[in-house]
Amino acid sequence: MINELVRPEIRKLTPYVSHEVPYRVKLDANESPFELPQKIREKLAGYFTKGPGLNLYPDNESVNLRRTLAGYWNVDHDAIVVGAGSNQLIQLIITVFVGKGDRVVIPCPTFSMYKINTIIAGGIPVEVPLIKEKDFDLDVDAFIDAVNKEGAKVAFLCNPNNPTGGLISIEDIEKAASKCTGSIIVVDEAYAEFCEQSAIPLIEKYENLVVLRTFSKAYLLAGARCGYSISNIAVSGEINKIRPTFNLSSLTQLIAKMVFEEREEVEKMILYLKDQREYLAGKLKSLKGVYVYPSWANYILIRVCGAKEIARKLYEKGVLVRSFFDDPVLSDCIRISVGTKEQNDIFLEEFISIMKY
Ligand SMILES: Cc1ncc(COP(=O)(O)O)c(C=O)c1O
Repeated sequence: MINELVRPEIRKLTPYVSHEVPYRVKLDANESPFELPQKIREKLAGYFTKGPGLNLYPDNESVNLRRTLAGYWNVDHDAIVVGAGSNQLIQLIITVFVGKGDRVVIPCPTFSMYKINTIIAGGIPVEVPLIKEKDFDLDVDAFIDAVNKEGAKVAFLCNPNNPTGGLISIEDIEKAASKCTGSIIVVDEAYAEFCEQSAIPLIEKYENLVVLRTFSKAYLLAGARCGYSISNIAVSGEINKIRPTFNLSSLTQLIAKMVFEEREEVEKMILYLKDQREYLAGKLKSLKGVYVYPSWANYILIRVCGAKEIARKLYEKGVLVRSFFDDPVLSDCIRISVGTKEQNDIFLEEFISIMKY
């Protein structure tokens, strides 16, 4: 009975499962390996002992946080919408623009939530394959053609792309925004801190461009759930209409602002992780039978024979990595998040012993 009541699009979906399992090293979700600096913990402790409690609702507009972000990015704070992770922004943007039968262009492989949210909205995902032979680069002309031919309401570009690690040049982003003026082009920059490139300055020029950012990766706060979009205020105004009331808790607003204000600390961690990315990539490249995709993010995708089995053996040793055994293009790939030197060495040691080099 319930089954018949459920919308057909939802009936076919499977829930996102993330098992809490014991581990030695967690390199499967591209989180930061660093915990919150002591300085910020102490500030938070002060908030709890002296500041207001949590009996009142949070600031619905997250004004302090949005002003801080707007100051840094040099945009109007009304251009920014904050959400419970950038996941919430993905869902809100699709809800604003995509109705039943509307097309959404999505390169593939990429972050799965664009497709899932499109389906939830009753839209039709149109996938544009990344070029496998060219390290999964985007064929920007094919992307533009697809967006225009399909009359897509929305199109996504994940930059750097998860899980392949590749980067689309700013020139190509601008080309897409300028040639797809009838569509919203969403550039998801969840990992942009690791590549020193952003499409945010283009927002002034292109009203159809939306950039997504998150505090979950470089900014240490996957557990706090905070992300934001920056766009023309015509777009942010519409997203804001459907944003759930009080979508960001007082604690999340506070902690995100504190961490953002401690950017110098975060930037040191980013430099460290970029160094470690090169270290890890170098070691992996030296192993026979392992192909290492170039990465501009805090993870590395490798192609290796028996990927599924290797990931399972690593899991048994308490080393969590991401495998893609049910993906037609990535079934022989593993994605490893870049951790601390100690974590990366544990991964390498176990990986090498499994591969029996
Ligand atoms: C490309 C990309 N975008 C968005 C997200 C969602 O991040 P969050 O909702 O934690 O901000 C992720 C998470 O892995 C991601 O990889």
